[in-house]
Amino acid sequence: MRARASQGRLPHALPYQGSKRAIAGRILRHFPHDVGCLIEPFCGSAAVSVAAAARGFADRFWLNDVNAPLMNLWEDILERPVELGAEYEELWRSQQFDPREFFDQVRDEFNTTHEPRLLLYLLARIVKGSVRYSANGKFNQSPDNRRCGMRPVMMRDNSHPPRAVRDVREHVPARCGARPDLAGLGRI
Ligand SMILES: C[S@@+](CC[C@H](N)C(=O)[O-])C[C@H]1O[C@@H](n2cnc3c(N)ncnc32)[C@H](O)[C@@H]1O
Repeated sequence: MRARASQGRLPHALPYQGSKRAIAGRILRHFPHDVGCLIEPFCGSAAVSVAAAARGFADRFWLNDVNAPLMNLWEDILERPVELGAEYEELWRSQQFDPREFFDQVRDEFNTTHEPRLLLYLLARIVKGSVRYSANGKFNQSPDNRRCGMRPVMMRDNSHPPRAVRDVREHVPARCGARPDLAGLGRI
């Protein structure tokens, strides 16, 4: 059975440059309504899948992005949102004494461990969610020093997920991937 979630304010699990959230409604006007599996090959924040889930436009969803740590973060958003929200809150509170120094520590740790909670914190702190990696694959974006990142209560509301993200989870548990070649596969 298809999801029929509220189409009001859509959830926004993570800040991400290039998010299609603002134009998802316009994109979906051109979308067929009888889709079995919606594959979002360059999903980032998965704005189109989230919006499609809210409208019940597909039976199943497959989120894909070449960024493997991002897909591990998506698995946590879908599978353990409560724990992830608590982990984010702990990081957010720990930064208060010296946010810049703390950001650098988290970035170093992320570049070693690729832990999802660390990526969520980094995405919340960088300018406009603009992910940047060095040539040797290290996350090297700087923080937005004017802001301290989304407040935990807001992050929890967003990634705890309201209806549409939950619908994605219910329809495709663990169907997340990091395949750089998926865009070329067409229907699967
Ligand atoms: C502009 S962002 C997409 C934003 C997304 N539409 C949203 O609403 O958040 C582009 C994404 O494509 C991913 N990407 C780039 N090359 C890719 C490839 N060959 N296969 C899969 N994902 C790729 C990047 O990691 C990035 O997350």
